[in-house]
Amino acid sequence: MAEHKTVTPYSDTETSKKGQVTKMFDKIAPYYDNLNRVLSLGIDVLWRKKAIRMLAKEKPRTILDIATGTADLAIEAARVIKPEKIIGLDISANMLKIGDEKINKYGLNDIITLELGDSENLKYQSESFDAVMAAFGVRNFENLEKGLAEMYRVLKPGGTLLVLEFSKPRHFPLKQGFNIYFKNILPVIGKIRSKDDKAYKYLYESVQVFPDYDDFISILIKLGYSQANFKVLSAGICCIYFAKK
Ligand SMILES: C[S@@+](CC[C@H](N)C(=O)[O-])C[C@H]1O[C@@H](n2cnc3c(N)ncnc32)[C@H](O)[C@@H]1O
Repeated sequence: MAEHKTVTPYSDTETSKKGQVTKMFDKIAPYYDNLNRVLSLGIDVLWRKKAIRMLAKEKPRTILDIATGTADLAIEAARVIKPEKIIGLDISANMLKIGDEKINKYGLNDIITLELGDSENLKYQSESFDAVMAAFGVRNFENLEKGLAEMYRVLKPGGTLLVLEFSKPRHFPLKQGFNIYFKNILPVIGKIRSKDDKAYKYLYESVQVFPDYDDFISILIKLGYSQANFKVLSAGICCIYFAKK
């Protein structure tokens, strides 16, 4: 499988990217939701809503939410799509703990179950889900293609893949303006509010090396996905990728 440039949250060469990512999300979990709202001025909520509205047209009954974190995407899907079952999977126990509290609060326990596990080695049988989705998760994989191939494996034939991920704005003036914010301002606010001095620097760096737009589509096609397409959100800060098995 092709290698993509890897950046890691911490400079610890002894620990794998996966180990560092787990440590980072376990550490920032208590601040994660609040920081998302502050740093994106609430726009991340709208991005997830838009993605779920697109997925709703496919009427999936069983959904796997990869890298579910604090379960915001799973919760939005449960409310809008009302499927039989959503499984939310994540490697960070602390992120899942906060997700579970929200699911209890909203009374969605019958629909959503959160499980600890690795997206790159899924424990589910092949062809188990009508839809597999991930918001801001795939960028953190140690091996992007392995994770996307696993997502393909567990999708039913005809099933839908939905990926929401940051991209690099391509046009003036947002490209320059957003870059200043993302590179210089956001890591400072992130550091103060998450008490982790690396996490939001890693966010910027991981977006810079992530294969976005057509590069991501090429990977999906190479892995066997069909009808792969993307929708640009907020002038290129974020994209919704959509494909079929
Ligand atoms: C930026 S958060 C996104 C959380 C959520 N999907 C959202 O929209 O807010 C990324 C999540 O990916 C998880 N993650 C990263 N690599 C993973 C892997 N290999 N398997 C499962 N979860 C992973 C992290 O633990 C973290 O909770």
